[in-house]
Amino acid sequence: MAAHRTRILVYVGKGGVGKTTLVAATALHLARRGIRTLALSTDPAHTLGDLLGSPPLGEIRSVSPNLHVLELSPYAELERRSEAVLRYLRRLMAGRGYHDMILQELLSVPGADEVVALLRIKELAAEGRWDAVVVDTASSGAALKLFLLPEAAHWYMQRIYPGEKKLLLMLKPLAEKITASPLPDAPVYDALEALYSDLVEVKDRLKDRRTTSFRLVLTPEKLVVQESMRIYSYLSMHGFHTDAVIVNRAGGEYDPRPMRERFEGLRMLRIPPVPRDPDSKATLLEMARQAYGKTDPLKRLANVVPIEYETADGSVSLYIRMAGLRKSELKIFTRNRHLVLQARNVRRLIALPDAFENYVPRRARVEQGVLKVEFQPA
Ligand SMILES: Nc1ncnc2c1ncn2[C@@H]1O[C@H](COP(=O)(O)OP(=O)(O)OP(=O)(O)O)[C@@H](O)[C@H]1O
Ligand SMILES: [Mg+2]
Repeated sequence: MAAHRTRILVYVGKGGVGKTTLVAATALHLARRGIRTLALSTDPAHTLGDLLGSPPLGEIRSVSPNLHVLELSPYAELERRSEAVLRYLRRLMAGRGYHDMILQELLSVPGADEVVALLRIKELAAEGRWDAVVVDTASSGAALKLFLLPEAAHWYMQRIYPGEKKLLLMLKPLAEKITASPLPDAPVYDALEALYSDLVEVKDRLKDRRTTSFRLVLTPEKLVVQESMRIYSYLSMHGFHTDAVIVNRAGGEYDPRPMRERFEGLRMLRIPPVPRDPDSKATLLEMARQAYGKTDPLKRLANVVPIEYETADGSVSLYIRMAGLRKSELKIFTRNRHLVLQARNVRRLIALPDAFENYVPRRARVEQGVLKVEFQPA
């Protein structure tokens, strides 16, 4: 029997475009059709609960048949999972009531919020309790930080801290600062090791197209569209699969053609403006119906592959799906068997397959939504 596979549907986009509305609408729509659905908010502003019925932060609550809601709280998550570290720290600080302070300190480590959110997503998807986890994210910058984090951790561990024991270096100074005494290596080391391998697992799950689809929510305004093209490009560069663009508030004058060209290969969905703030279940369900029509939102809605390779007479090529990034915005070079792509403030290293050994990038162009990098023998 095929293993149960929970689909993870992640809605991303610029601030205020309708992500939360869409996640609520999609979750209601799926649940109504008998799909066991979890609507999950990673946005600290937590407006999803306002639409679906507000559970206490960090708790999973059933709100209607087949539908649960969870608004993630990094604080509660960290408390749940950092047992090994915390138990030790608590013992050290017994009776001093510093527990809260430790959590606060740990959460101030860059990436901590993201780490705990990702780990929870992984656990929820692995539980097999839901067919769909529909994820609401904060505005694009924060969402990218969340999903690119495992990549950054991986890179960091491999390049900057080779050698397992070095993992310790990351957390130890902080922990020692809090406890004002030197820490033994073993418990912290174990906890960090486990954390790291969990993050690698999350990354694999999020990059597996059978499991996870990213969906871009946007409104038909120039700046919004530009930012969405960038989000899409960054997701692709990192190997995440985007399958649809949902054009929200697309009125009668909206022309879908230019949009289709910009996001070639992706499924285009569309929702007209509704007369007043969509806050009733009936309106949300109607919006979902307009967006998806006969399309099943649980399915993968497009088949584009974010990164592909091709070998043909003497040259090898790398293709990356992207929109909106001009070649002039990209720096491309190779280093240590990796292709380095740098676009604005995002840097991505792509490990090159064996076929690229002794090849160097010769030409790069962006055409019809694809960046093509051609390699030739050095
Ligand atoms: N099709 C629509 N027609 C009219 N109003 C809409 C439509 N879609 C969303 N809205 C309204 O637009 C506002 C922003 O929507 P929403 O909160 O879903 O955006 P968001 O992308 O989640 O924002 P944020 O980035 O702040 O989380 C809300 O008041 C919502 O009710
Ligand atoms: Mg929102």
